[in-house]
Amino acid sequence: MPTLLITGGAGFIGSHACCVLLEAGYNLTVLDNFSLGRRQALERVRQLAGPVLGSRLQVLSGDVRDASDLSRAFRLAEPVTAVLHFAGLKAVAESILEPLRYWDVNVTGSLALLEAMRAHGCRTLIFSSSATLYGYPDNVPISETAAVMPINPYGTTKAAVERLLSDLVNSETGWRVACLRYFNPIGAHPSALLGEDPATEPTNLFPILGQVALGRRSHLDVFGTDWPTRDGSGLRDYIHVMDLVEGHRDALEVQLAGEPQLLQLNLGTGLGTTVLELRQAFETASGHSVPWIAKARRAGDAAASIADVSLAQRLLGWRARRGLEQMCVDGWAWLRAGLYRSS
Ligand code: WQD
Repeated sequence: MPTLLITGGAGFIGSHACCVLLEAGYNLTVLDNFSLGRRQALERVRQLAGPVLGSRLQVLSGDVRDASDLSRAFRLAEPVTAVLHFAGLKAVAESILEPLRYWDVNVTGSLALLEAMRAHGCRTLIFSSSATLYGYPDNVPISETAAVMPINPYGTTKAAVERLLSDLVNSETGWRVACLRYFNPIGAHPSALLGEDPATEPTNLFPILGQVALGRRSHLDVFGTDWPTRDGSGLRDYIHVMDLVEGHRDALEVQLAGEPQLLQLNLGTGLGTTVLELRQAFETASGHSVPWIAKARRAGDAAASIADVSLAQRLLGWRARRGLEQMCVDGWAWLRAGLYRSS
C-alpha cells in the first residue's frame, strides 16, 4: 500500500487521521516536533490499529521548517505517495499576540514542505486549512466561493498558504492539492483513547466545557448573549473529529484517483449550534452541570459561521454523519478516561 507523510500527526486532528489512514491500509510516516502533540497519542494510535496495521506507523521527531528533518523523513519513507499537512499553530488569540511565530510555523513551514515534496517527486498534498480564512461571512451557510477575508493572523496564514498552493498548481503540472477548510472540530475517537489534548490553556469552547464539567474551571463565560441568533449566543458548525478525518481520507482517495487539480472544500455539517445549545448538550452527555455567566462579545468573533457542505458532498461523496450528542458523548468519554496531559 502507498506510504503517506503526515506532518503534525501527533496532534488532535493528525492523530485521529492516522487512525483512519492506518485502517484504510496506508503506511504512515509521521513527522512531528511534539511542541503541541504528544508521543503518547501515537502510541495509542498504534494500539488502536493492532499489531499488523500498527507496524505500518513510523514516527520521526522533527520540524517542518527544517530542510534536513524533511529530507530525512522523505528518505525514510520513500517513495511518499502523498503528504497530509497538519503541522501548524491554530489559536486565534495567540496568533494576534505572536504573528511572526504564526507566519514562521504555518507559512515558512508549508513552503519548506512544498520544496521538499518537489525535490522528492511527491506532488499530492492534503492541507489542513480553516474556515477562519472567511473572516466575517456576508451570509451563512458559507460556500467556498465566499470572499477570503481573514481577520486575524491565524486565518491570514491559512489564506496565504492556500494562495501559495494555488500559485504552485498554476505554475507546475502534476500537483494534486486539496485545501480542507475546517469549521469547528470537536469530540474524540469512540475508543476514548484519543481526543483534544491542549498543550496550553484552551481558548476554544469545547475543551472549556470539559474543564467546567470536570470541576477544573468554575464556570463558562459566554462571550455575547446579544448576537442575532435564536438564543443570542454565537452560532457555529461543530463537526465530529472522526467525520473530519474521514473527509481527509476521502479527499486523498479522490485526488489519487483523479487528474491533477486544486480543491478547496468546506468540512462541516451544514448545521448551526449556539454556545448555549452546546453547553446544554454537554451537560446532558456528561451528567455534570456547566454553570455559565454572560460576558461581553470576544473581539474577532462573528455571530454565525456555518458551512455550505454541498461541494464536498458532490466531489468526495462525503458528508458528516455524527450528530451533536455523539460529539459530546465521545468528547466526555475521552475526558473521563483521564489520558489527557494535565490529568
Ligand atoms: C466558538 C463559540 C465563541 C469560548 C476556533 C478557531 C478556529 C477553528 C475553530 C481551527 C464562539 C464562544 C468560546 C468561551 C464562548 N479551529 N465561546 N466562551 O472561534 O469559532 O473558531 O475553532 O481551524 O481556528 O478560531 O471557536 O471554540 O473559540 O468559539 O462563549 O470560553 O464559542 O464566542 O461563539 P471559533 P471557539
